[in-house]
Amino acid sequence: MSDPKASLKQAKKINVSFTVNGQRKVFKTYPMARLLDVLREEAKLTGAKEGCGEGECGACSVLVNNVLVNSCLVPVCQVVDAKITTVEGLSQGSKLNKIQDAFLKHGGAQCGICTPGMLMAASHLLSKKKRVNKKDVQEGLAGNLCRCTGYTKILDSVLAAAASSAPTTRSSRGLK
Ligand code: FES
Ligand code: FES
Repeated sequence: MSDPKASLKQAKKINVSFTVNGQRKVFKTYPMARLLDVLREEAKLTGAKEGCGEGECGACSVLVNNVLVNSCLVPVCQVVDAKITTVEGLSQGSKLNKIQDAFLKHGGAQCGICTPGMLMAASHLLSKKKRVNKKDVQEGLAGNLCRCTGYTKILDSVLAAAASSAPTTRSSRGLK
């Protein structure tokens, strides 16, 4: 049986360019390298985490052209010229965004492995829908697993973030 890692190494490296967190980047990498690895090892953006490596846990979630994807499943050749946002792109310098702030205030993070993915899923949800209820948040975060919190504090955090910005008056994770 052929070894997929061996065939990956035999492939020729190519230049892959995309925009990540507003900055244009070019990396010389294998076309089938996982986006997660390119982000972590080449771009040095280690916010996205590897949990399962199989598309099951959501710890590696990032936005590609505003679509929430599991970066462990996306070959980098599929994101040429794409606009990518990682958890590092949510804050403005040391100023946390409202969702990060709510996770901090409401204890939404414990060990933190799932947190970047939860934040990305929550950001994606709140960018699509300003008013959300508990069911919306449960559905929006359904692809993200947490071993520590029991989810209640995560849900509370996202609901608090949504309430803080609500006006007064999630899906396949694959790339199409
Ligand atoms: S590491 Fe990608 S979904 Fe678990
Ligand atoms: S905080 Fe540990 S896995 Fe969620």
